[in-house]
Amino acid sequence: MKRELIVAIDGPSGAGKSTLSKRLAASLGYINIDTGAMYRSVALAASRKKVDLTDEAALGRLAGEISIDFIRQESGERVLLDGEDVSGAIRTPEVSLLTSQISACAGVREAMVELQRQKGAKGGVVLEGRDIGTVVFPQAEVKFFLNASAAERGRRRYEELQAKGMPVELEQTIVEVEARDAADSAREHAPLIQAEDALVIDSTAMTIEEVLQEMLTVVQQRRQQAGLADPVAGAGR
Ligand code: DC
Repeated sequence: MKRELIVAIDGPSGAGKSTLSKRLAASLGYINIDTGAMYRSVALAASRKKVDLTDEAALGRLAGEISIDFIRQESGERVLLDGEDVSGAIRTPEVSLLTSQISACAGVREAMVELQRQKGAKGGVVLEGRDIGTVVFPQAEVKFFLNASAAERGRRRYEELQAKGMPVELEQTIVEVEARDAADSAREHAPLIQAEDALVIDSTAMTIEEVLQEMLTVVQQRRQQAGLADPVAGAGR
């Protein structure tokens, strides 16, 4: 039997990757893998276990030891770290900052890439991250690079945090988005770069629905080329 596709969505934070990969996966009946949540889980585990962040070997060992799973509940997708639901705990600003640091560690990246390959190898998956199309699955059948201007991404993040009741300022949020971009692009291991064969979508002036439709069109064309002619259940939702 032919396997379903591997879809990679890479791009900087705030470009809409999370929302779109969830929507795209749901529309296609695919599994959604949020690789940022995996790095965030390692950061949370390191902080709880008080692992020295300069000790690369210890960080790598930790990343290889913990279990990270995704489950779908009525409340949405949940992230489990060693069986505990950490979906909220991994989204704090402190964990975001820590994640930026630990995701530069080669041992952590090796462990996560291995885990992501295991989770995605059977196909029928949408993986979102920074290095999916370049490192994790260079052979992915569909690669999107989703981008938006820093000002727009900062604005989206600001609204998200404000809606959660967090005290934030727009200017500051944009500065933080730019700083995180710079750190993600400049690091030695798997920096944020666009795969040569990725389809670039700039979402600055597009709605989620517009981007989703564009992505769905591309994936369905690719499915047809791969001989997976029948639309998958629920496609086009
Ligand atoms: O997408 P996000 O904001 O949840 O990602 C959190 C951090 O993890 C961010 O600093 C980039 C990093 N990351 C990474 O290095 N590689 C990935 N494949 C996904 C995320």
